[in-house]
Amino acid sequence: MLLGVTGGIAAYKAAELVRLLRGAGASVRVVMTAGAQEFITPLTLQALSGNPVHTELLDSTAEAAMGHIELARWADVLLIAPATADCLARLVQGRADDLLGAVSLACEAPKAIAPAMNRAMWDNPATQANLDTLQARGLHVFGPDSGEQACGEIGPGRMEAPAVLVERLSGLFRNGRLAGRRVVVTAGPTREAIDPVRFISNHSSGRMGFAVARAAREAGAEVILVSGPVALETPPGVRRIDVISAADMHAAVLEQVPGSDIFIAVAAVADYRPATVAGQKLHKRETAMTLELQRNPDILADVAALPDPPFTVGFAAETELVLQGAKNKRVAKRVDMIAANLVGAGHGFDVDENALHVFWENGECELPRTGKTRLAAQLVSLVADQLDSNNTHDKVISINAKDSA
Ligand code: PMT
Repeated sequence: MLLGVTGGIAAYKAAELVRLLRGAGASVRVVMTAGAQEFITPLTLQALSGNPVHTELLDSTAEAAMGHIELARWADVLLIAPATADCLARLVQGRADDLLGAVSLACEAPKAIAPAMNRAMWDNPATQANLDTLQARGLHVFGPDSGEQACGEIGPGRMEAPAVLVERLSGLFRNGRLAGRRVVVTAGPTREAIDPVRFISNHSSGRMGFAVARAAREAGAEVILVSGPVALETPPGVRRIDVISAADMHAAVLEQVPGSDIFIAVAAVADYRPATVAGQKLHKRETAMTLELQRNPDILADVAALPDPPFTVGFAAETELVLQGAKNKRVAKRVDMIAANLVGAGHGFDVDENALHVFWENGECELPRTGKTRLAAQLVSLVADQLDSNNTHDKVISINAKDSA
């Protein structure tokens, strides 16, 4: 893989990143900008990567003096980490006046950036617009993380930890763990109409489901995301089907599931809908009003009950007795795997972080609280493990947050 390093304080983390990438079996070549060399020497990255570090656009020692083309062809993935605000702007413009810019333009392999900058620079509309443009062009964006920054401020803009980048990068290789698999994911809430202006719904933002869809795509799968009403961008490369009600979601999922290998139900589907939908706006009455509800179809259970079901993964949202509730749901709905999460004030719904406890027939795994993007990648990795193993063994894994921090 090709690593581009640009000039920010997080450039020092490139050393650890190269070490971890090599440890994971990757062959690593490094391109450094002039700014990056102010923070870390090429010699350090040369020693760690075991390859000469490339810094010059016009390099007479490169084959046919076209080093940027050679490097671009060689790469099976290009990661720029750290990617400064200036780097994002230059990528948007398609600048080719330094080696990294030229390689980025010439490289047809999957590309990812790990932004790192001061939080105000990150929040600036110019940076956000650049980011939108790059994502729309299919670049994968890893992070940034949030927290204390080198400049003393606190907020988003820290480069993702090298271990997280390695985890996310693994999915970008053409032989990702779910390559060749078709995955259907549900996300977001459903809305159950009461009358033309009112509905019953819940607090799901869609973030967890969208993160799962993105992680599955980054693991190489073809992904169909069936989403309730949310205000989120579709992850790059994912096909999205928008629905409103549980009945719509049920129909869309059952249409997409045949031929799929995996179904992951992250949506918070309304269990009930009004028995009748008023044709006109209901008017206020003097006395209390009773709404009769009827059961919605259970999408997850219906998929699991198909004659030839995909590998089915449910989520269990519980406010108490989380683990037991999830285990009961896994058995009742006859699903292969279930991810339990605590929901309620500050938990699960409409927040950036989450924690999961995942159960399958003969095993379980605790995934401690972290960002939903990272959590989704860990969940997808567990799903891939289960698909890979022909027979499931008794297994209890606990991923220690320190291992992957
Ligand atoms: O969207 P976010 O703001 O990021 O929040 C994420 C989340 C809290 C919504 C998510 O992590 C989560 O827990 N999703 C499942 C919510 C839910 O409906 O849980 P449940 O325990 O009620 O349902 C169990 C499973 O059955 C779920 O996989 C659900 O998608 C599925 N189901 C439920 C009812 C129904 N009629 N059809 C279904 O398919």
